[in-house]
Amino acid sequence: MITTIDAALSRSHDVENAIAVSPGSHRMLTGDRPTGDLHIGHYLSSLRNRVALQDQGVESFVLIADYQVITDRESVGRIQDNTLSLVADYLAAGIDPEKSTVFAHSAVPSLNQLMLPFLSLVTQSELQRNPTVKDELRASGRPLSGLLLTYPVHQAADLLFCKANVVPVGRDQLPHIEQARVIARRFNTRFAGGRSVFPEPVALINDQQLILGVDGHKMSKTRGNVIRLGATEDETAAVIRKARTDSEAGITYEPERRPEVANLLNIASGFSGIAPQDLADSLGSAGGKALKDAVTEAVNEGLRDHRAQRARFAGDPAYLREVLQEGNSRAAALGDRTLAEVRHAMGMSY
Ligand code: TRP
Repeated sequence: MITTIDAALSRSHDVENAIAVSPGSHRMLTGDRPTGDLHIGHYLSSLRNRVALQDQGVESFVLIADYQVITDRESVGRIQDNTLSLVADYLAAGIDPEKSTVFAHSAVPSLNQLMLPFLSLVTQSELQRNPTVKDELRASGRPLSGLLLTYPVHQAADLLFCKANVVPVGRDQLPHIEQARVIARRFNTRFAGGRSVFPEPVALINDQQLILGVDGHKMSKTRGNVIRLGATEDETAAVIRKARTDSEAGITYEPERRPEVANLLNIASGFSGIAPQDLADSLGSAGGKALKDAVTEAVNEGLRDHRAQRARFAGDPAYLREVLQEGNSRAAALGDRTLAEVRHAMGMSY
């Protein structure tokens, strides 16, 4: 597994350089499950990067992975609201529907049909040893459903239906990208006589500091440690006021020894652009209250524009649906072309 990660890191690095030279020859796809509102972790570690890639001229697909919601839970929940809320955050962050295709995978029949030949290209043991699936199974506290076991194959269809070659993701998604690469390779060999019908997508690994919740644990709604992008300034202040620090006097940036303080400094840094070490130096002998005030100001300041835009878009659900429908039909047209190629390669165009 070490060598796999090293290889993935080196590919990520290479593709980053290749994008800088020739953005137009890359196609990015990434996405989110519509399970709840996005928070500052999403903003700092993925939304901003997507917008930067789009603006660099990389052809971009932003997927709302609605079928993936039911991999680890019994019902779809507030899926309409969650989906429109994602679209509002995308647009507010600067995703431009003229340049990027925003779509839901449930709305693209050809994408879903690719799952069938793809399932023939993976083995049960490959699926069962996927570490991310195992983690999600454990966290779900439920029996393993057929969909949870096979969703990495569906995720391969997300990537390959549009022949995406760049996938900005966190490290937890690497097993899925690796599986998609294997599927692309096997498809080309077994069904296409070695012709490259599908590219092997490359993960663009996000190696920024992982942003944790204000209590130093993974951000999660149930822990109440989340700063939602859509929160008001007062709600933001209230969450940060409750943040855990430590009993030491003075502010220093020591991620190993003082993880909660370091996480707050990382959050402030993400929004202010000032290095966490410099922030710590300027706070110096000030205490936890001064740190929290500084974090609150950085977050509220850094999100002011996003929040104003977000509120404007959220107030116009008809427009959000229009953006999604337009994206869905663009994605469907592209998927139809890929599926036609697949049928042809497999001798199934009648
Ligand atoms: N599995 C991803 C997550 O849980 C969401 C996702 C679905 C995705 N399809 C994708 C991400 C394709 C990147 C590319 O966050």
